[in-house]
Amino acid sequence: MNSPTTLKEWQLLQIHQQTIGHQSIACEFTKNPNRFNQLSLAVGEILLDYSKNQITSETLPLLCQLADACNLKSKMTALFSGAPINHTEKRPVLHAALRDLTKNELYVNQHNIMQDIHHTLKKMHTFTDQIRDQTWRGCTGKPITDIVTVGIGGSHLGPQMATQALSEYATDKLRCHFISNIDSAHLDEVLNQINPETSLFIISSKTFSTIETLTNAKTIRAWMNQKLPSLDLTKHFVAITAKPKKAQEFGIPEQQIFTLWDWVGGRYSVWSAIGLPLALMIGMPNFLKFLEGAHAMDQHFQTAAFSENMPVIMALLGIWYINFFGATSHAIIPYAHSLSYLPTYLQQADMESNGKCTTQMGKNADYATGPILWGEQGINGQHAFYQLLHQGNHLTPIDFMLVAESSKNFQHQHDILIASGLSQSQALMCGKSTEEIITELLAAGFSETEAHLLAPHKTIPGNRPNNVLFIKKITPFNLGSLLALYEHKIFVQGIIWNINSFDQWGVELGKQLLPPILSDLKNSQTNTTYDASTLGLINHYKKNRAQ
Ligand code: F6P
Repeated sequence: MNSPTTLKEWQLLQIHQQTIGHQSIACEFTKNPNRFNQLSLAVGEILLDYSKNQITSETLPLLCQLADACNLKSKMTALFSGAPINHTEKRPVLHAALRDLTKNELYVNQHNIMQDIHHTLKKMHTFTDQIRDQTWRGCTGKPITDIVTVGIGGSHLGPQMATQALSEYATDKLRCHFISNIDSAHLDEVLNQINPETSLFIISSKTFSTIETLTNAKTIRAWMNQKLPSLDLTKHFVAITAKPKKAQEFGIPEQQIFTLWDWVGGRYSVWSAIGLPLALMIGMPNFLKFLEGAHAMDQHFQTAAFSENMPVIMALLGIWYINFFGATSHAIIPYAHSLSYLPTYLQQADMESNGKCTTQMGKNADYATGPILWGEQGINGQHAFYQLLHQGNHLTPIDFMLVAESSKNFQHQHDILIASGLSQSQALMCGKSTEEIITELLAAGFSETEAHLLAPHKTIPGNRPNNVLFIKKITPFNLGSLLALYEHKIFVQGIIWNINSFDQWGVELGKQLLPPILSDLKNSQTNTTYDASTLGLINHYKKNRAQ
């Protein structure tokens, strides 16, 4: 495919944007009382209200035509059938197979990967049962009380986010900790909370070569040896990796290694054995429901018409703002404490996937691609960054997430939370006009002059688009569906932008540059071939670090 900008469907959208780009969203509701019903849809227990967007009845059909022109349907078939769509790494992209447990056969290089998937799930099931029923014992015969996952990026963010989201389903016999940072302060913080005799360390690394994870793992092993000298620590370490030999070299026996495969991308791996910390906390039956929920969204994605397809609609709305209105960022704002890690999780999923400027054909993309994705819990954000969302001059489309059923018993607090989210969604769309402000100020006793001076500062422009995802409850099933929804949204955008959403070469350069700098930090002589800034900073550190 050539640049999507050359497609007539793209050009029609440009014309359409010029026609409706400045229309009032709120007025569309006055014109059409059915707008909410027409521009909202539910998949299972997730409702998407996309009526507060800068769209008319013509917009979505035009966007769907663009998706057709970009061959989205055949690209979806290629994804699910295991075609090697990650062409720069010569790999298929099959995280959806991990949750299609109805399937018994799917071949990659003449090998039935469904056998491997079922085998690993069975192994996870046995292991999680042994830990949870306390038949698995540490080196002094005590049961495991603390699970410490050591991993980073995709080997950390998914399990951490999902464990927090589903804490209501977790056993109270286990505590879960995560160590991702190479900063020893993180390690110290966790090690200070645990008893080595009752701790299990999960070394989670697809490549088993990530410096942060491997260094932390080695430090932990030394700490364990020091705390429990001359005892057999085998039962305290398990590994999750696509490189089992490396994990064995580290000292983890083969039966304690849970495998994943190169056709599972790190940021899409929470469905694989990488999800073991979650399975340990919520139990395997709940973990299987998490997979089922994702599979239900996979089926919706594959079967619904584009105009009624939740991931497709969300993706196309994103394209609409990024490519036709010049939006550069997108906010994920959950009104749910249990989803507090979701923005960070989606940041990796989206930005590592679609933060690319090279097309599938190796050409420079002459159009905007993945947005800067960011977010925070809404209720905190209201008292921090919402000012910019309301009156700043950046266009930031937002996905709000609201949860109808609170897991706790404080209904009044929950009602305040929901009212907060709904009022912000409304305020961003409706804003408040200068005339309304003047009327209010005059009624409050301000003089005409004062009212006219103050009104521009208090005017809220509105017309700021936002989606509301209303989830009935954060259950394992619904969380699975929600994450799969975003995975497919990212996939669809990657197709429209004609980029490979499944590699991450941009991260590699930093990894290559680290070792020489590290050795120069340790050597008395510093290599002088660096740029002056890097050299100056290396020397500054060497002078200032603790001796
Ligand atoms: O940050 C780059 C990255 O390669 C991510 O894609 C990945 O999730 C993370 O590092 C961790 O990699 P691994 O699981 O191999 O340790």
